[in-house]
Amino acid sequence: MVTIRDILKGGHVGEEVEIRGWIFRTRTVGGKIFVVVRDGTGIMQSTITKGGIPDESFAEAEKALIESSVIVKGKVTEDRRAPGGYELKVDAFKVHHFAEKFPIQQDLSEEFLLDVRHLWIRSQRMSSIFHVRHTVFGAVHGYFRGQGFYEVHPPMITPAGSEGGATLFEFDYFGRKAYLTQSWQLYAESLVMSLGKIYTIAPNFRAEKSRTTRHVTEFWDAEMEIAWEGMDEAIKHAENVIMHACHRAAQENAEDLEVLGRDPKDLLAVKAPFERITYTDALEKLHKAGMKIEFGEDLRTLEERELTKDSKAPIVVTHYPRISQAFYKSRDPKNPEIVLAFDIIAPEVGEVVGGSQREENLDVLLQNLKEQGEDVKRYDWYFDTRRYGSVPHSGFGMGMERLIQFICKLEHIRDAIPFPRTPARFAP
Ligand code: 4AD
Ligand code: MG
Repeated sequence: MVTIRDILKGGHVGEEVEIRGWIFRTRTVGGKIFVVVRDGTGIMQSTITKGGIPDESFAEAEKALIESSVIVKGKVTEDRRAPGGYELKVDAFKVHHFAEKFPIQQDLSEEFLLDVRHLWIRSQRMSSIFHVRHTVFGAVHGYFRGQGFYEVHPPMITPAGSEGGATLFEFDYFGRKAYLTQSWQLYAESLVMSLGKIYTIAPNFRAEKSRTTRHVTEFWDAEMEIAWEGMDEAIKHAENVIMHACHRAAQENAEDLEVLGRDPKDLLAVKAPFERITYTDALEKLHKAGMKIEFGEDLRTLEERELTKDSKAPIVVTHYPRISQAFYKSRDPKNPEIVLAFDIIAPEVGEVVGGSQREENLDVLLQNLKEQGEDVKRYDWYFDTRRYGSVPHSGFGMGMERLIQFICKLEHIRDAIPFPRTPARFAP
């Protein structure tokens, strides 16, 4: 058995091979059946000629509906007219399972496709996205490991949040309140005191009720934390990991990106360092563009789009106002109303990375939490990071689906993950 991907790379011309897969498309013309087969690595055409295979097999091939599973043997030949440029001249065709009439035909609504997501994931569009997702996850692991970061895993069941109560998913843990993790934040700041340079890629959960094209309630977050370093070092790693992932996808998934309407050249043009602007300067730019936003307000999709409208690569916004920011972000020694925090904003998608230097001073942490109305007792274990050998440290979280949304040029984040979770649905 060979893969269609290998055949389309030109490796088996003139050879007799076997492929196994599912019928993607089928068409009978005169004495010929053209069956396009997909196997998870790609699609290719196989041509069956009446008389070229036993009559019973020909009859089976004629009868088989799309998504039937098949085993096909034949000779690989070059053919410009066939999708991918190669076809299989079939000499044996076996239907392993005759599919019922597939419920997904043309022109179906977005809602219906979400109802049958477990079948829609077989589509060429979705499998192309999954190929890119595979590359991007590998690239992020490769980047951090190559830079000497240890991969380490935080818990998903937690006693307290780190990103504010509004988006916490609460559940009953044997009669006590527990929460699904929003971020590895508190664990990262503890583990970095054990390992020095750490990263993870793990699921995070946010009870975001807002229905937008960039929020899901369950997403995968690539998070890093580094000891003895400030915000600039975290920004440098964020820029470099994004660049690395964009380049790897462009190199390994050119055909998939083409299916998705994304030009790999634009991804190769993403080069670190990115353009940088402070929040205060960004506000001035937005005001000049006629937008109304007050100091202290968060940048919304609208404003983020305006800031990146002339860029192909993401940009970095730094020095956000302290108000409305998470409690652990370090105050700017030059201005206590500003925190040493940054976001990386990608064109069309918006915020892809959020990070900061962390506040070292325990009294400031306590004050921040109290201001936000949090019960400081729940964080006492975390305060030990500031009691036993506190050091400067920094880190960030990069939403993997947002990054994939940017790389694949997806209109909606839900297509960046096989089974998206949104306020409206958690099935199938
Ligand atoms: O900016 P956030 O909230 O930062 C943190 O949670 C920090 N504790 C990270 C850290 O410093 N270790 O989230 C990080 C990233 C965002 O920039 C965004 O890309 C993604 O997580 N994200 C979401 N992605 C999809 N759907 C959602 N509802 C998301 N919420 C955050
Ligand atoms: Mg953020």
